[in-house]
Amino acid sequence: MDNRPLAILDSGLGGLTIARAIWSRLAYQSTIYLADHQFFPYGDKTALQINRRLIPLMNFLVKSNCKAIVIACNTITATSIKLLRQLYRLPIIGTEPAIKPAIKANLKENIAVWVTHQTAVSPHFKTMIRNLDQRGQIQIVDCAGLADAIEALAQNQSKLKSVLKKYLAKIKINYSALVLGSTHYILVKDLIQQLVPSGVIVIEPSQAIAQQTETILQQFHLLPTSTCPVKRLFFTTADHDQASSTASTLLGSSIIFTPCTL
Ligand code: DGL
Repeated sequence: MDNRPLAILDSGLGGLTIARAIWSRLAYQSTIYLADHQFFPYGDKTALQINRRLIPLMNFLVKSNCKAIVIACNTITATSIKLLRQLYRLPIIGTEPAIKPAIKANLKENIAVWVTHQTAVSPHFKTMIRNLDQRGQIQIVDCAGLADAIEALAQNQSKLKSVLKKYLAKIKINYSALVLGSTHYILVKDLIQQLVPSGVIVIEPSQAIAQQTETILQQFHLLPTSTCPVKRLFFTTADHDQASSTASTLLGSSIIFTPCTL
């Protein structure tokens, strides 16, 4: 048993979707959420820029006495998870697009996968697709600019809808599943589900990541006790008022960010 907090890291607010799944699965687990808005979005940065930037962020989380870190970001997972696991000794859980379950559920039918630009070009992701797409049934859509649009337009549903339609129009196949390969896209999953052709299922990994987190904590004897007071802290490296209001709108519950300079 270990009552230290679990850290959750993302470039912005998308990782809150993973946090939400973790909170409902591990009710007694305290969390520290770190959003790197100063450097947001990561999707248009190079792997080298992201790797350099992650060091102060990871050091901040390690110094805050966390017991494990969830990388609640597909882009960071694609560019840096191997490096982070080499550099840090605590358990690090990554976030990958749920392509395997999509293939399982849709068997021979086509699948569209939305990812950030940096995920799309990363060798880690390309290898994963090469291994999984043995029938040539997957279309990867580079959704450059979409994660930023979701945060910027959180208060404006109709503009957000027309932006989402633009990205849906990039899918050039008949598809029966759309995999959300960025945690930011999960923030607007309901809107996306309204916009896809009927019968298309929208697939995302937040529940699976929460389950994997529980498994890892269990494996390392790091689960919390049920008597421990639960704390949820939220830090951002940029404007905390902006982050608080956007997060509260997107999650539909009050989230208060504290500024942190990194
Ligand atoms: N939340 C990040 C992900 O899951 C992407 C957002 C960004 O481009 O920074 O890929």
